[in-house]
Amino acid sequence: MRLLKHTDFMDRKIKTAAIVGAGYMGGGIAQVLALSGIEVQLADAEPQMTQKSLLRLISESEQFERDGLFNPGAAEIVRERVHAADSIEAAVASADFVEEAVPEIPEIKHSVLHRISQAVSKDTIVGSNTSTLPIAGLAEAFTDRSRFFGVHFSNPAPFIPGVEIIPHSETDPEVLSPVEEMLRRAGKIPARLKDAAGFVLNRLQYVLFKEATRLVEEGVATPEAIDLIVRTTFGFRLPFFGPFVIADMAGLDVYAASFKTMEQHFGERLNTPEMLAELVAKGHLGTKAGGGFLNISSEKTAELIAYRNRAYHKLAELLKELGPAPVD
Ligand SMILES: NC(=O)c1ccc[n+]([C@@H]2O[C@H](COP(=O)([O-])OP(=O)(O)OC[C@H]3O[C@@H](n4cnc5c(N)ncnc54)[C@H](O)[C@@H]3O)[C@@H](O)[C@H]2O)c1
Repeated sequence: MRLLKHTDFMDRKIKTAAIVGAGYMGGGIAQVLALSGIEVQLADAEPQMTQKSLLRLISESEQFERDGLFNPGAAEIVRERVHAADSIEAAVASADFVEEAVPEIPEIKHSVLHRISQAVSKDTIVGSNTSTLPIAGLAEAFTDRSRFFGVHFSNPAPFIPGVEIIPHSETDPEVLSPVEEMLRRAGKIPARLKDAAGFVLNRLQYVLFKEATRLVEEGVATPEAIDLIVRTTFGFRLPFFGPFVIADMAGLDVYAASFKTMEQHFGERLNTPEMLAELVAKGHLGTKAGGGFLNISSEKTAELIAYRNRAYHKLAELLKELGPAPVD
């Protein structure tokens, strides 16, 4: 077999994939890839478990189709393009791309990744869906670590667009592009970051959750009140804007003043970030003066505010249409 030169990876189109671990995430990822035209081999711990998972994700696809969440014909595509393999080795043998989605237990990940590394071709790219484990540690399961990196989907994979792309220090940068192209074909939005425990998504999400539990423990608010406040105040902004554009719009001097209070009451844990203090000292106060974290030009500000207002208005309408989440 002709091995791909590294430069060949850049132009490569992924046509076949294997998903190892056919639970919540593996099943959802299999649906996503199949619906974008990729032939998918599925492998769970035992062949009967793989068969059962395949039946589950076909019937789930039928339900999604009935509910109008998948296009007409989608379940048939999943039935045709997703195949239950007899073993991990059989699943990955001729795959252009393998995604590992077994439980978040290092020993299981290592043993499964080692089996994958022994069975793939020299051209196969391997991703891990780990939520938090540093990729460099998982890479130790491989002899050639250059074609392995984190490809972290969110749950539910069919409906959440963002995917974290996490190369470790020995990943060949050229192998990232074909996977990013495959993800875009599947309607996903990849974003690259560096290898660090918890990556971006979970590090931020867990800090929020930790602080929320602390508020409950301190008796400041109930879990119900915190959930309500999060989704009706700053959470209302998050479908459209990340923390930096929000800070730039709010005014970095406003943030710096608020951090003074936070530091007085919570100490070093919530002191003023150095980056913020430096920008304020230079007069970079966000969209209102001098630019900020994102350097949004002052000519864009009116357009941005108008977009923001339209976005929040539309979101309010959507929430009214959907009704409240059935949590009580
Ligand atoms: N559930 C989430 O919200 C979520 C979101 C993003 C990422 N993740 C990550 O995705 C990965 C999978 O999580 P999940 O929620 O799908 O778990 P899950 O328990 O639903 O699925 C894991 C699957 O792996 C299978 N498995 C166990 N040992 C195996 C082996 N030796 N060989 C092959 N298959 C094996 C299990 O039978 C199961 O079907 C984890 O790393 C998790 O952290 C989960």
